[in-house]
Amino acid sequence: MADSRLGYPDLGFGLGLRSVHYPYILKQRPDVDWFEIISENYIDSQGRPRIVLDQIAELYPIVMHGVSLSIGSTDPLDFDYLSKLKRLAAEINAAWISDHLCWTGVAGLNAHDLLPIPLNEQTLKHVIGRIRTVQDFLERPLVLENPSSYITFAASTIPEWEFLSRMADDTDCGLLLDVNNVYVSCFNHDLDPQEYLAKVPHERIVQFHLAGHTNCGTHIIDTHDGHVLDHVWELYRQIYQSTGGVSTLLEWDAKIPEFPVLHAEVLKARELTAPDGPSKSPAIGERQLEAHATAATVPHPLSIVAADVE
Ligand SMILES: [Fe+2]
Repeated sequence: MADSRLGYPDLGFGLGLRSVHYPYILKQRPDVDWFEIISENYIDSQGRPRIVLDQIAELYPIVMHGVSLSIGSTDPLDFDYLSKLKRLAAEINAAWISDHLCWTGVAGLNAHDLLPIPLNEQTLKHVIGRIRTVQDFLERPLVLENPSSYITFAASTIPEWEFLSRMADDTDCGLLLDVNNVYVSCFNHDLDPQEYLAKVPHERIVQFHLAGHTNCGTHIIDTHDGHVLDHVWELYRQIYQSTGGVSTLLEWDAKIPEFPVLHAEVLKARELTAPDGPSKSPAIGERQLEAHATAATVPHPLSIVAADVE
């Protein structure tokens, strides 16, 4: 735990905790540095998921990653939800709490998706005010993730990296840089991911996300249903070096394989970023993008939650 961002340590290389892997983790106690949970799977649960989480939290550091904060919405903040987040974070000693730069509903209606916001001065001011309120309530810096997106708003006037930078500077929040989302969004908006990585504020990055996507030719969908693709591995290697290295988390939310497959993928991240370079990474460079270019469905954030709640 050499580096510290906002007081948050470098936890190493972790995996998203999914219920299908509970028995394996508790029995095998795999060599994983930490786990990230979907907060909504546990805040209202007093059943088996919560009991298992308490057991796993005794063994590994836990980070809470939410999908319901809706920081970009114009609806009032949900303080009942925030109270539940705060209580769970205290009970499992969560390393930090993250969510997405997005909105999930308005006028009391839930869109059940992580929707992008127009990036302009008005929305920046709006989001900054809400982040400050959330952080004051949670009594800790919030960590927000760059979304994957598919359309460009006519009302957007600020590049995403500048929006993130000014948002973080004004609120002292942290950034969860999803490297796959950078690649997906840049492909879909015809932007240069290298420029994005060069301009996003490295010192604000607390955590990385890695995940698979599906290339449909004209656009890429953020499916989280397979291996990390080679372009994303290369971007990750570059930004990991530029930041000096921060906590890295592999997401795999659909077509979830056996635990050892996920484990091998996150160990690849560890090997790729080793100080003396990768000794051997046979999968990198060998897979073909076409292998994943199949008909895709967008993973539904709340269906991920629902599928994981028992
Ligand atoms: Fe992510």
